[in-house]
Amino acid sequence: MLLRAAARKKKTKHSVATLFLALHGRPLTSSSSSSSSSSSSSALVDSIATSIRPFPDYSPRKPSLRDADLVRDLTAALRQRRSDPLARVLRPFGPRLRPDHLLWALPLLRSDLPLLLSLLAWFRSCHPAPSPATAEATAIAAHLAAAASPCTARRLLRDGLRDGGRRFIDEVIYTYKHWCSHPSVFDLLLLAAVDVGRLDDARALFHHLLTYGVVVSADACNSLLARLPVGDMLAAFADFPQSSGGGLRWNAKSYNIAIHGLCRVGNVGDARRILADMEPKAGVPPDVVSYSTLINGYCSIGELREAMELMREMALKGLKPNPFTYNSIMALLCKAGRVVGAERVLSYMVRHGVAPDAAVYTTMIDGFCKMGNLSAVYRMVDEMRKSGLVPDAITYTSLIHGLCRSGKMVEAHNVFEEMLSEGLNPDEIVYTALIDGYCKLGRMTDAFRAHNEMLRRGLTPNVVTYTSLSDGLCKQRDVEAANELLHEMCSKGLELNVCTYNSLINGLCKAGNIEQAMKTMVEMEAAGLKPDVYTYTTLMDAYCKSGEMDRARGLLQEMLDKGIRPSIVTFNVLMHGMCMSGMLEDGKRLLDWMVDKNFMPNATTYNSLMKHYSLDKNMKATTEIYRGMCSQGVVPDQNTYNILITGHCKARNMKEACYFHNEMISKGFSLSEGSYNALIRGLLRKKKFMEAWGLFDEMRAKGFVAEHDIYNTFIDMNYTEENMEAALALCDEVVERCLVETKVDET
Ligand SMILES: *[C@@H]1O[C@H](CO)[C@@H](O)[C@H](O)[C@H]1NC(C)=O
Ligand SMILES: *[C@@H]1O[C@H](CO)[C@@H](O)[C@H](O)[C@H]1NC(C)=O
Ligand SMILES: *[C@@H]1O[C@H](CO)[C@@H](O)[C@H](O)[C@H]1NC(C)=O
Repeated sequence: MLLRAAARKKKTKHSVATLFLALHGRPLTSSSSSSSSSSSSSALVDSIATSIRPFPDYSPRKPSLRDADLVRDLTAALRQRRSDPLARVLRPFGPRLRPDHLLWALPLLRSDLPLLLSLLAWFRSCHPAPSPATAEATAIAAHLAAAASPCTARRLLRDGLRDGGRRFIDEVIYTYKHWCSHPSVFDLLLLAAVDVGRLDDARALFHHLLTYGVVVSADACNSLLARLPVGDMLAAFADFPQSSGGGLRWNAKSYNIAIHGLCRVGNVGDARRILADMEPKAGVPPDVVSYSTLINGYCSIGELREAMELMREMALKGLKPNPFTYNSIMALLCKAGRVVGAERVLSYMVRHGVAPDAAVYTTMIDGFCKMGNLSAVYRMVDEMRKSGLVPDAITYTSLIHGLCRSGKMVEAHNVFEEMLSEGLNPDEIVYTALIDGYCKLGRMTDAFRAHNEMLRRGLTPNVVTYTSLSDGLCKQRDVEAANELLHEMCSKGLELNVCTYNSLINGLCKAGNIEQAMKTMVEMEAAGLKPDVYTYTTLMDAYCKSGEMDRARGLLQEMLDKGIRPSIVTFNVLMHGMCMSGMLEDGKRLLDWMVDKNFMPNATTYNSLMKHYSLDKNMKATTEIYRGMCSQGVVPDQNTYNILITGHCKARNMKEACYFHNEMISKGFSLSEGSYNALIRGLLRKKKFMEAWGLFDEMRAKGFVAEHDIYNTFIDMNYTEENMEAALALCDEVVERCLVETKVDET
């Protein structure tokens, strides 16, 4: 295509030359006049869309006789002593050499490119200030290198553009006709302009070259498209083929760049239209990359259905999805918490002969980590290793994050060490995860060790890091140290955020300093941060624990007044507080109010109240609340059953107790230690020895401890049955338990 365009220039030469003269008032051949500003060139494009002007003639300044002699001597010396260091060969010529001499030497060195390039490099290093002569010499060298060594040419063009910008572009055009054999130099020039980030110049160059009948190749234009901001990219995507009168036709890669750009800004609809245009408008069918990019676009805005639809379309066209395609879908599923679904996709892709790559495994590892399913995480790491894939920094980060969140600090530390031994550099995120993990376990020494190591590596702790540390200190009741740390953080210019304040308030509450915590909330508001549901719930919890129920209720009212929606945790905290203070009637009213106002209570809310009614031996009220729970469609949990069973046993309603026991087992729940004891005692009272013994066996097998009186009953029974051995074994067990318990007490 380029050659065709280059050939076309000959036909129209004369008419364009005349037109140029008319427009610019000077002949086209003058070197200094080769139109330099892009505005004049695009005006030209508009006015003579179909006419093409010729490239200018090369007419360099002539050397004086003395200069000509010098240049001849210089090139002769270079040729004769080509194995000597250049600096030594050139030393005798010393200060007499000017950039002009370089220019005059080029015709003599034309057939010896390596020598020419070394001479040019030497001149550029001795005369670092850009000069017209060096620019011209660089352009000529690029022309000579274009065909044989495109990389060298591209590097020279980059050098020239860095020095001279648009003036250099003119130099390349001015020297083209005389020095060049190949129009591909203009592809390289455009690529070089993109390389050095002169994107506007690159766009102008495309249009400017059209006036000479040169159409830059689609591949070169693609590198420009890929670098332009989305808006400019779309403009160029529409404009380039049109301005070139169809001389430029986009290929699949160009379309893919456009699709990618649109997807990146979330404009998936237009991206899809561009994909649909490919075949009918450009005759290039969409490929795997086109589809994968669009599928990824749909996945990143959460449109699973559209993504699956495209997968199907792709399959119908006989295109095979690649790991990237599957990964997009798996990442979306994981993000929605559907990790098991993502794993199904994984096995599907394996079944269909697509080998998962490291990114796919990282997605799965991250997904399982977020679910806290560590056994699955390890299985994935194993599979990954077995496939010969090496975990990268992202994999390690996910893994460490997941382990830290699950409190598996030994494993996290091991993985961290492994990451270091693989030569990967942990970043702020990894360190913050470790610090947070240690803080959550109260291992503050380890946390600060990690913090110091982080500083030693030149990493800056962020707000999250500091919040973790201050949270950890608060949990150790070291609120003062936490306060100090937060001051340090402020002095570093990091702004305290709501999380930091919440952590501090939480620490103060845990340390029993509610007054200070309330003051901190006021401070927080003064700093322009809004206390949130977590702030209020923390403070309410503190008031509930200290029995100041009026103040707790006052905070609920304040929250509602401010339009902050209480969460289920808020209500459960309040309900628990009321129950602990014996305010069961208020608790019941709160429950009714919640249902009335559409704040759905959960099992925990009901359980609090049921537990305290049953402790009061009021099984009537307990049952009433249980019925209310069922009628609201709230599913009873394991605690609910344990409360009901213990309560009914104590109230000697063994029929109900056994009924709930059976129901509980059928739902897969199990008895607590307290429920076992209560149930066994109740059964013994009813003389149901077999059942009682069965449960007694079962609870011991689970590691629960039966009460002394239960042991005593069974020991007596085995004695009376003259089953001495069984009785003695039970006695041993009791003694052993006592020893274990005293040991635990001592430590
Ligand atoms: C972990 O994930 C696997 C699926 O890979 C599942 O079978 C298993 O039940 C999960 N374990 C837990 C504890 O959720
Ligand atoms: C009920 O809410 C509490 C928070 O107070 C939460 O811990 C618990 O998991 C919830 N229970 C259910 C069954 O969702
Ligand atoms: C001990 O007594 C219980 C209750 O009578 C009985 O069920 C159990 O079988 C006895 N243990 C042995 C080993 O005989």
